[in-house]
Amino acid sequence: MEIQHNISLKDYNTFGIDVNAKRFISIDFLYNLQQLLKQEQELFVISGGSNMLLTRDIEALVVHLNLKGISIDNEEERFVDLTVNAGENWHEFVLWCISLNYGGIENLSLIPGNVGTCPIQNIGAYGVEVKDVITKVNAVEIKTGKLVSFTNEECEFGYRNSIFKNQAKGKYIITSVSFKLTKNIHNLNTTYGAIEKELEAKKIITPTIKDISDIVIAIRQSKLPDPKEIGNSGSFFKNPVISKKHYETLLEKFPTIPCYGISETEVKVPAGWLIEQSGFKGKRIGNYGVHNKQALVLVNYGGATGEEIYQLAKLIQKTILDKFSIPLEIEVNVI
Ligand code: EPU
Repeated sequence: MEIQHNISLKDYNTFGIDVNAKRFISIDFLYNLQQLLKQEQELFVISGGSNMLLTRDIEALVVHLNLKGISIDNEEERFVDLTVNAGENWHEFVLWCISLNYGGIENLSLIPGNVGTCPIQNIGAYGVEVKDVITKVNAVEIKTGKLVSFTNEECEFGYRNSIFKNQAKGKYIITSVSFKLTKNIHNLNTTYGAIEKELEAKKIITPTIKDISDIVIAIRQSKLPDPKEIGNSGSFFKNPVISKKHYETLLEKFPTIPCYGISETEVKVPAGWLIEQSGFKGKRIGNYGVHNKQALVLVNYGGATGEEIYQLAKLIQKTILDKFSIPLEIEVNVI
């Protein structure tokens, strides 16, 4: 356990932003994390670094959480209970599950980041959210170093939201996540339009979890940039929820505006559509811009600062507010 000095965080965040960590430590064992907490509590934890935009150098001690390992807690005929350490890469975990025919997270293939951060924003894609399979989130309390567990209910999961973005923010470090997955008989979610279409095209009538995962990977690769090639943090904004009344007024002016029903009184509007209609899709300003295949994704072509990308995000927010009277909420953590 050794503290390093003046380390660039460029390789530790998927946006590829080059900021400096005054002090940096990589943690491989839970015990070491608990020891560290006895000495230091002003920490900045970075795991997969896939949901943050760094706009400044980090003064606090940067803790790179590198806890690895998967344990099978219980296995029955139809279900398996697993606990996965926070530093495991999410997509590698998904592929491992598919190879063992453990179902439930195949729709979440190819999402960047590590297992420890998946509950924070309740990652979701193609009709599935990780909250559907999480049984427990295990963490250490920063103040005391004590191990605590949150049940699924206690995590207060919502759309790209959880207690870890609210009351529990900055108070805990997630060390592992427990999941309940299916064996043999799976509850496949194929209702998302693009998945259905692809299954039809491939003439697959009884898809396996591997089929779904392959399709999701292909869809994502066709419209989302690979962070290894172009820095990004996935969807930069949340899809906004507006009242049906507001939507109906907008329909008069913008007859093609899409929506998904949420409740009797509210609808969700795809932020990507709003951004595209405002002329930002594919817009490039120097080293950064808006992705040309998915307007919800801001990108760093290399060498951009977090502040530049943040200013672009603010311009997009202002434009959408003026044009559609919709406030767009940023989904990634701006530091
Ligand atoms: N759209 C456009 N232009 C664009 C992008 C989208 O018009 O450039 C419109 C289209 O009408 C399209 C609709 O938006 O049919 C939906 O687009 P898409 O299927 O790509 O999904 P999304 O709503 O833009 C959300 C998640 C993604 C997730 C996909 C698939 C959020 C903030 N984003 O995007 O999550 O992969 O659904 O389920 O909810 C992420 O969080 O990082 C992420 C990539």
